[in-house]
Amino acid sequence: IKEIKDIHRNFETKSECANRLHHWVEKNRRYTEEGTCASYIPALRHADPHQLGVCIIGHDGEIIKGGEADVVFTMQSVSKVISFMAVCLTHGLAYVLKHVDVEPTGDPYNSIMRLELKKPARPFNPMINAGAITVASLLPGVTKEEKFAGLLDVLEMLLGRRPSVDEAVFFSERETAHYNFALAHFLKAEGFLKCGVEDAIDIYLRQCAIEVTTEDLARIGLVLACDGYDPLCSKQVLPSELARLTKAVMLTCGMYNASGKFAAFVGAPSKSGVSGGIMTAVPPRRHKVTPFHNGCGIGIYSPAIDEAGNSAAGVKLLQHISAEWELSVF
Ligand code: DON
Repeated sequence: IKEIKDIHRNFETKSECANRLHHWVEKNRRYTEEGTCASYIPALRHADPHQLGVCIIGHDGEIIKGGEADVVFTMQSVSKVISFMAVCLTHGLAYVLKHVDVEPTGDPYNSIMRLELKKPARPFNPMINAGAITVASLLPGVTKEEKFAGLLDVLEMLLGRRPSVDEAVFFSERETAHYNFALAHFLKAEGFLKCGVEDAIDIYLRQCAIEVTTEDLARIGLVLACDGYDPLCSKQVLPSELARLTKAVMLTCGMYNASGKFAAFVGAPSKSGVSGGIMTAVPPRRHKVTPFHNGCGIGIYSPAIDEAGNSAAGVKLLQHISAEWELSVF
């Protein structure tokens, strides 16, 4: 009976998958109540906390969506994945690793504590703010405009379009970015920033304000899932070693101090942002008999976030999808 069920699951049609996804979105929507919209960035406060949307793109280009999948939101910390890859493409991994490590912290994303505990104060990983601000300063170019353009170049290569920036989110966050300025000043004093404090913060906050949809996140997730190969345009767009390393950093650090639990209960490399986005890369698991066994990318949006800064319902929905379709890499 199990075998028959497995065979049936393998042949779930696109519309069956979409129906089930729709059902799971509605089932998990109640978990939006367990989070709140980020209020420390004034412009994010007004998002609708009950929204939950998901987009999955499979290896063959098939797209399924559920809930409010087409809402435009800002990338926030999901952008840290792109800036990390951009600096690795420019300088090579060895140089980047001199400025930022790839060790998880178990601390909140904006914590300054560990910078003082260790000499030199090299940030623990590129997914926490200290690491991401350092990475922003390493982007190619001299001026902040050139550096930001270097980041957009990589995004354009991945998305096939140059995304826009929500200026209101950028300016409103800049007003209240005291922790980030503190981190940047500390990093500057320790010799880790490769540009001025103001410029590093400007680039970092601007990248956080880049506008995307769940489909965009799913697209990038799919490329990472396929080790840098974009099956939609049949092109290797990122070196495979870089894509694999990035997935390892996402799995160990991408959900901050909830990364361990997320690896245990979802089990796919992911990156969250305080606007409620999650980008997930599901590598192929060809021995499995489930939809998306050739790998897929998943984009989630649900703006009510939990204590760790991860989308509350988004994490629950991913957990549900992962259990049903056996998406864990473990
Ligand atoms: O640095 C900040 O506070 C934000 N703009 C980005 C942080 C973030 O998204 C953390 N994620 N969950």
